[in-house]
Amino acid sequence: MPDNIAPLPAVPADLLARSSVPARLLRAPAPDRSALDLAVSAALRAPDHGGLRPWRFVFIQGEDRGALGDLLAASMRARAPDTPAERLEVERAKPLRAPLVVAAGAAINHERPGVPPWEQEASAAAGIMNFLNMLDAQGFGACWLSSPSLKDPAVKAALGFAEGDSLLGWIYAGTPGEDRPRPSRPGPDAFRRDWAPGR
Ligand SMILES: Cc1cc2nc3c(=O)[nH]c(=O)nc-3n(C[C@H](O)[C@H](O)[C@H](O)COP(=O)(O)O)c2cc1C
Repeated sequence: MPDNIAPLPAVPADLLARSSVPARLLRAPAPDRSALDLAVSAALRAPDHGGLRPWRFVFIQGEDRGALGDLLAASMRARAPDTPAERLEVERAKPLRAPLVVAAGAAINHERPGVPPWEQEASAAAGIMNFLNMLDAQGFGACWLSSPSLKDPAVKAALGFAEGDSLLGWIYAGTPGEDRPRPSRPGPDAFRRDWAPGR
């Protein structure tokens, strides 16, 4: 357990209020080291069949976001060589929308038949959710985005993932502006039911 847990806000209450903040509404400052340590510590509380610890978070900040943009544009061009230059520039600029981009993924152990890759991905995804909740609880904003480049072996390798690992998303993070949305969610009734076999 991290030793700076005492001053934390009431995280359970935040679970009922979290919402994504679109990348274009995320500003500096990015979550600092201690905020990110807490978020990763929360991720490590996800259920972990077999104790495989699949959670991986790669932080990309500052000028390195430009290098990530180059990687994404190259990936797009490799997938679709006829992509117009303007579209490639849009892709290249994407990581610059927020002060921090996190490549979130799962290190997959393929040697454990009792714990198939989908379970390890599920654990990593649960970890990402804890990560997002902990950022939100500390006043930061974030959103979880995907793109075809998540599957690109060249992108995965450049970010330090093995070919058999799973890159699960791009987490854009920063400080939300006043204009951040907090859309309401429906109540629980439509999403729960009691099983009544034979009745
Ligand atoms: C695995 C995953 C991938 C996602 N990818 C995208 C995406 O590429 N583009 C997008 O607009 N939203 C994407 N979303 C949805 C957003 O993260 C977010 O949930 C959505 O904007 C609704 O906001 P809310 O979380 O406040 O309901 C993705 C969500 C998940 C779980």
